[in-house]
Amino acid sequence: MKKSPISTVESCAETTHVVLPNDTNTMGNLFGGQLLKWLDLNCAISAHRHCKRLAVTVAVNHVGFDRPIRLGDFVTIKSHVSRGFGSSMEVWADVWVEDQLTGEKIMANSAIYTFVAVDQAGRSCAVPDVIPQNEEEQRRYEGALRRRQLGLILSGKMKADDATELKALFAPATHTTPDKGV
Ligand SMILES: CC(C)(COP(=O)(O)OP(=O)(O)OC[C@H]1O[C@@H](n2cnc3c(N)ncnc32)[C@H](O)[C@@H]1OP(=O)(O)O)[C@@H](O)C(=O)NCCC(=O)NCCS
Repeated sequence: MKKSPISTVESCAETTHVVLPNDTNTMGNLFGGQLLKWLDLNCAISAHRHCKRLAVTVAVNHVGFDRPIRLGDFVTIKSHVSRGFGSSMEVWADVWVEDQLTGEKIMANSAIYTFVAVDQAGRSCAVPDVIPQNEEEQRRYEGALRRRQLGLILSGKMKADDATELKALFAPATHTTPDKGV
């Protein structure tokens, strides 16, 4: 049974980490795999808060490493569920880096994960949709359907012909195109 949509506020999760020597690569910057782990944990908390169940990672849709994160930096990850579908949820995470000496906070990158709510036997369960709280969350909500279609096509679980909203992005200019990206 479909559940009532809930505010993105319900799924907000925030963690702060300090980059220690064990977290770095040979250049002394944060190792990408460590950031992926922190992101996965943060997004899992958001997914769990949203559906109030166990949720497992089914796909990492996007992670960009836009700037190096240095030894000693404070790394803050903020995530929320950007859209709920049947049993899957798109979770969006933003990464902020804080310089310890100046306190300046810079947005370092964003990541998009997909989680599925499961029962104790690992079977998928219905999740609520979200109610976006501002324009940015509304854009993320709208883009989530296209990103879902792209992810399912790439993983061989959807035929490209069935991805109506994704195909509309590439249609001639008579169609309305979204402001930003997929
Ligand atoms: C997640 C899992 C339960 C889904 O099982 P399944 O048999 O594909 O279940 P379903 O066919 O009912 O699909 C469930 C949902 O997953 C989504 N899904 C499945 N594969 C997907 C993929 N590659 N990308 C995005 N979504 C996917 C489906 O679209 C469906 O979403 P919807 O209900 O919103 O439409 C199963 O794949 C699993 O247990 N995976 C391992 C999870 C795990 O161990 N994660 C930790 C990673 S180390």
